Amino acid sequence: MSTLTQQLDIRQLGINPNHWYVVARSSEVQSSPLGVTLWNHPIVLYRDNSGVVHALEDRCPHRQVKLSHGRINVDYVECAYHGWQFAPTGECVGVPYLADNQKLPTCQIRQYAVKEKDGFIWLFPGDTAQAELLSPLGVPEWEHLNYIATVSTIECQAHYSFLIENLMDMHHGHLHEKYQAWASAELKDLQENANQVDAHYQAQSYYKIDKIWSISQLFFPGLRRLHPEPLDVSYIYPHWVSTLGEDFKIYCLLCPVSETVTRAYLIHFTSLNAFWRLHKLPLWFRRFVKNSLFGSAQKLLDGLVRQDVKMMEEEQQAYFHTPQQRGYELNRALVSVQRLMKSQALIIKN
Ligand code: FES
Ligand SMILES: [Fe+2]
Repeated sequence: MSTLTQQLDIRQLGINPNHWYVVARSSEVQSSPLGVTLWNHPIVLYRDNSGVVHALEDRCPHRQVKLSHGRINVDYVECAYHGWQFAPTGECVGVPYLADNQKLPTCQIRQYAVKEKDGFIWLFPGDTAQAELLSPLGVPEWEHLNYIATVSTIECQAHYSFLIENLMDMHHGHLHEKYQAWASAELKDLQENANQVDAHYQAQSYYKIDKIWSISQLFFPGLRRLHPEPLDVSYIYPHWVSTLGEDFKIYCLLCPVSETVTRAYLIHFTSLNAFWRLHKLPLWFRRFVKNSLFGSAQKLLDGLVRQDVKMMEEEQQAYFHTPQQRGYELNRALVSVQRLMKSQALIIKN
């Protein structure tokens, strides 16, 4: 690592904008414009008449108010104040009181590359030409009939590096003891490259999803039995993916809002892969099972998020109080992710 990289304060890092970030769930973008913020950029998301999602700078060029407080008029977003309309390209295409002898103002607001994929809205805040070259991470289990999803939103008053470090340090099963998420993690192997860190732990899991009734382990602690399982966690810049044995897969899709605020979506999948009998049933029935069990891990997931957010916000407060104070780190996976975050942020300083 170069001296410059070493000297960077991890809690002041920017982001590499040339990646696909997640700014909303698909279900959040309905018939009204939605305002979101990605790394200090206010952005308005809206769906046109045919259901396609568009993303523009959330600022009317007329008087600088938020377009997300306006409404959708067929394929255009219409400002609440004087009703100017903007096309998905960001051009002004209508002013309701334009006189016959006046031309439309040639103002243009920024358009962002945006995609709807696997239940989420993915946005590329960087160079639009590069957006074509990269694909969003994607969540293939979202539609797959063998996976039951639960989603929890993380809203945290802390720099995103605290979240990534929390997600990569599996020794914090201690914090979640009462939820029995996992236990006794030991780091066995670690790999890293320019975009990814993979940490392989051996842990103990409380759950074994091998009978259809075993999903009730999510609700009844008495049914759980500790047993060893591999616990693999990966930081695939800027997102995080993990698997616990064969039964669980978890994603954390990031939307860093600013230097001190982080939003993210935690998606927990329980696998039904072990139930081969279920796979022979008609598709409509399998979809019915998937949809009826959606959110079955909600209490667990929300509880874990609450505990993690509390810790990360305390870390941020401690940093505000004494920024030069360094902690003692024993987990070498954290050294790797810090190195990755720094090198990505350095690619483009923003
Ligand atoms: S401020 Fe948006 S139309 Fe006037
Ligand atoms: Fe946690």
